[in-house]
Amino acid sequence: MHRIATLDGHSLITPAAVNREVLSPANARSAEADRSMAEAEVALILNIAARQIQEQRAPAQIISRLISSLHDLREKTGALWRDLIPLVQNHPVAAYFHEDPFTRWSFEKPRGYSGDAHLIDFIYGHPSTADEIARATPLGKTLYGYTRQAPSAVAVRERRDLLTRYVDSVADERGTGTEILTVAAGHLREADRSAALHQGKIQRWVALDQDPQSVGSTVRDFQGTAVDAVDGSVRGLLTNAYSLGTFDLIYAAGLYDYLTDKVAVRLTQKCLSMLKPNGIFLFANFSTEVPDDGYMETIMNWTLLLRSHADMLNIVDASLEGERAERQIFFGENRNIVYATIKKPA
Ligand SMILES: C[S@@+](CC[C@H](N)C(=O)[O-])C[C@H]1O[C@@H](n2cnc3c(N)ncnc32)[C@H](O)[C@@H]1O
Repeated sequence: MHRIATLDGHSLITPAAVNREVLSPANARSAEADRSMAEAEVALILNIAARQIQEQRAPAQIISRLISSLHDLREKTGALWRDLIPLVQNHPVAAYFHEDPFTRWSFEKPRGYSGDAHLIDFIYGHPSTADEIARATPLGKTLYGYTRQAPSAVAVRERRDLLTRYVDSVADERGTGTEILTVAAGHLREADRSAALHQGKIQRWVALDQDPQSVGSTVRDFQGTAVDAVDGSVRGLLTNAYSLGTFDLIYAAGLYDYLTDKVAVRLTQKCLSMLKPNGIFLFANFSTEVPDDGYMETIMNWTLLLRSHADMLNIVDASLEGERAERQIFFGENRNIVYATIKKPA
């Protein structure tokens, strides 16, 4: 009765009142027990890794066990998981995995933020990462051989190739006047293999990114082509800071994973408003089926907003606000990345 009286929707609901009700002494005791159990489990996982390292087991065996144990623990512990992350990051075994130059780049964040374009170059195996890989210890090289074959990395390479195919097929269909906008373009590696770009079928390919170093690299790599690298941000797009015109294809990959639903919807609406009739908007997101999520969030300190098919559809539908448009949600081959496309009506 007491609970109904205070949380009945009429009384003032303050955090203190909710805590009093939800965290009753009995509930608090059980939450404390869950936390102790979760902490004990993470300690066990890390101790097993430490023992395997000491026994000089094969690095692939050690990392694969850790990845799958952290994934299971993340799933099992729900809201408690967030508090376990520092326990993993501060454990001595983290140093072993940081010998992998890809994992270390992610953890140290030399560019000051997560998921920069150089990090993705480790996944692509791009020559720009050759020096760091050459400088890695033999263990680091072996671990990198494993992490670059992780399902999420395989999906990122497939994503790059899928983007190239979209660009080329839109350019084939629309001819030499084709205009493309890439939001959060990074180093625009998908353009390296674009037949349409090399055959001069694209009139203008705007590659927008907020990192001046990445913009500089795109300017250098694509000098003399239709690529126009622009130093700009999602915020700039949303506040109409640029006059970019309209496009046949607009896409964003490696960006929505960092955007809340609210910003994702606003950006989708903005991009739809910049499409020509029959233009296509595509966005990609890591899916909730990523098996190395626990390793990424702890050892790599790389947190992403993972989305399901339903989450993607919600963003698309909220963006369309009841307007009719052809829309599609689909997964890549190993289901680690999910895609949404919207076609603007003629
Ligand atoms: C994971 S990388 C993806 C790069 C590229 N799209 C790819 O698929 O390889 C993310 C990129 O998003 C850019 N980025 C992140 N937040 C951004 C924002 N708010 N506005 C513009 N670019 C952003 C970063 O600078 C980085 O280059």
